[in-house]
Amino acid sequence: MTGKTSALIMGVGPEQGLGAALCKRFAKENMQVFVCGRTTEKVEHIAELINSTGDHAQAITADLTKETDISTMIDVVNGSGLPLEVAIYNAGNNRPEPFLDITPEIFESMWRILCMGGFLASQAVLNLMLQQGDATPKRSLLFTGASGSLRGKANFAAFAAGKGALRMLAQSLAREFGPQGIHIAHVIIDGVINGDKVVKGYPDFVAGLGEDGLLDIHAIAENFWTLHSQERSAWTQEIDLRPFKENF
Ligand SMILES: NC(=O)c1ccc[n+]([C@@H]2O[C@H](COP(=O)([O-])OP(=O)(O)OC[C@H]3O[C@@H](n4cnc5c(N)ncnc54)[C@H](OP(=O)(O)O)[C@@H]3O)[C@@H](O)[C@H]2O)c1
Repeated sequence: MTGKTSALIMGVGPEQGLGAALCKRFAKENMQVFVCGRTTEKVEHIAELINSTGDHAQAITADLTKETDISTMIDVVNGSGLPLEVAIYNAGNNRPEPFLDITPEIFESMWRILCMGGFLASQAVLNLMLQQGDATPKRSLLFTGASGSLRGKANFAAFAAGKGALRMLAQSLAREFGPQGIHIAHVIIDGVINGDKVVKGYPDFVAGLGEDGLLDIHAIAENFWTLHSQERSAWTQEIDLRPFKENF
């Protein structure tokens, strides 16, 4: 293990996905990257890819809706002995569902990963960052949002309810922990990500968006890095990102 500090990316799945792109981007900055997701094969694959390039990563399997898994995740991060410089809550799933078909179980499971997991992860991460003090010049906790963070579209009631709540969580944390030196920011992805989730799951929809109709995962990851790099005299709390030709 090398690197002077660490980055924890929560919600990593396929190689062609935002979580994986975030891991690769922060690993390029000589940080030890903790690649965290709920599917062991996926997170191990991403960690191996990063290590094979000479950068440094470690996989952590955790279901971010479970307090015990979050606690194990933080023990691994803390056990590295490296100060945690940046954490990103990227976990999320989405699927359209007519409102009258949404069962309480569907609604609750969507809320658990979009909002409750963000709460549990934030508490654990912030506790650790505060314990570690100013061991790193910068400390950030960043969140991945969506169009649904701002508006509830038809057939996306459960998703928008969860993402909207996560945005409010991020705002409250920014106001409480910003003055303590921790940069909290929320990134609204206002469009479709060029990743496996949508490209493989909804190929016809993607075809309809045409050339350059999707957000590139590496371009998004670059924005997360820029946010984290900001000087504290000029912090951004929220940004939105969309393809140049997106209708909004
Ligand atoms: N895809 C889009 O077009 C789009 C648009 C706007 C916003 N977003 C947001 O952008 C973020 C990334 O989306 P993405 O599609 O590119 O996905 P991604 O970053 O490739 O992967 C996110 C991962 O979160 C993981 N996850 C889900 N539930 C989890 C849990 N309980 N515990 C731990 N990990 C869990 C999933 O793992 P498994 O693969 O193992 O299930 C998934 O692969 C999400 O927050 C999403 O809401 C996506």
